[in-house]
Amino acid sequence: MSLSTNQYIKPLTTVRNSKGNLEIGGCDLVSLADKYGTPLYVIDEKTLRNICHDYKKAFENYPKIRMMYASKALCTSAVAKILDQEGFGFDTVSAGEIYTVYKSGVDMSKVLFNGNNKSYDELSLALELGVGRFSVDNFLELALLNQIASSQNKVADILLRITPGIECHTHEYIQTGHLDSKFGFDLTQIDDAIELILNEYKNLKLHGLHAHIGSQIFETGIYPDEIEILAKEISRIDRKYNLQLNEINIGGGLGVKYTEEDIPPSTFEIGKLIVDKLHDVIEKYNIPEPVVFLEPGRSIISTSGVTLYTVGSSKQVPHGTKYVAIDGGMADNPRPSMYQAKYSAEVANHKECDELKMVTIAGRFCESGDILIRNIELPQLDEGDILCVYNTGAYNYSMASNYNRVQKPAMVLVSDSESDIIINRESLDDIVAHDIIPDRLKL
Ligand code: LLP
Repeated sequence: MSLSTNQYIKPLTTVRNSKGNLEIGGCDLVSLADKYGTPLYVIDEKTLRNICHDYKKAFENYPKIRMMYASKALCTSAVAKILDQEGFGFDTVSAGEIYTVYKSGVDMSKVLFNGNNKSYDELSLALELGVGRFSVDNFLELALLNQIASSQNKVADILLRITPGIECHTHEYIQTGHLDSKFGFDLTQIDDAIELILNEYKNLKLHGLHAHIGSQIFETGIYPDEIEILAKEISRIDRKYNLQLNEINIGGGLGVKYTEEDIPPSTFEIGKLIVDKLHDVIEKYNIPEPVVFLEPGRSIISTSGVTLYTVGSSKQVPHGTKYVAIDGGMADNPRPSMYQAKYSAEVANHKECDELKMVTIAGRFCESGDILIRNIELPQLDEGDILCVYNTGAYNYSMASNYNRVQKPAMVLVSDSESDIIINRESLDDIVAHDIIPDRLKL
């Protein structure tokens, strides 16, 4: 089986050009750093479209698949536009994400609203904008959504988010499907929820069940296990309530390759396992072929993104670590400090010497824990060198902060030797834009 895009560390168009500089999407990374400044997020359009094609190919034998990009991984208007063009719907978790995809011109019936504590205002906005599915997480939300739908004279189309009790071996902060999780209805609470929907909540229409196991998953077996649980529940609900649910949402989670040690499965392998299991449970439980939602986030956008930094100061601890500082760090990529995440990097500009040295890449933020990459072998790094950190498309910009009142970086989209800004760099005025000095302090 051929490799899928999530199994590569670098964007597919990455090459060294005749000047010895790294190039992505036909754009020289040193020229990009020069033109737009650093830190700079770069998204390679070809890699992004390629993983979309991989997913579509992986599921071509199951026409009832609905691909929903988990926009929490990276939600910008241009990225939404590309995924919309690729035929994807969107998994959203906030008014901000819903509004972003809405403003990008997405057909809102292809949008799903997830989350464990959606507010009254968010649910109202989602209903007004015509969001296609609500994955209802808890009893309060059932009541709230029914009330809002009734006030808008609408029926909200829902799935029930359930906790299937499957553990996966990923970082504990990004596991969600195990029993002691803040997300979703416990299996023992499903019937109470269904009875409320059938008997009281007339403005809710239940279509199916939703689960999500976790993120950066390498174990292939969890998807069949999850499908087994969801299908079994669907057939049990049919028998008990004579209620035919014809949708299941199996969440996202497929991993990516941050370093050589990471061996994520391919979309094709996962696709085959999922489709085979679906056919299996359809026969076993004698249920109609369900519409199946998939919500990949990281595996869609991670590989297409890199971050460019400029090298600044360095420090050799006597008989110890050699620290090399770059002009970004934990505010533009909090993943190393939050999850001990590891990344791969290369020097983007041409370096004469190719003898490698062990260094630690330190961020510029005022915190000892702001280390971007610990112990990586790179050529001698000098002030002004451009460092390219790979696989930063997912959960970097989307989790970025203004820690130390540092402006968030710009983002460019590269394709066929063209580069376009898709997020402007924040200015110092943006930093103070929301500050107010009360009049009484102005005396
Ligand atoms: N669906 C649901 C309901 C989710 O909660 C998530 C991710 C996804 C889909 C997408 O999962 P993905 O395909 O991206 O693995 N900030 C963490 C990841 C948090 C994931 C939260 N939920 C990180 O940087 O590793």
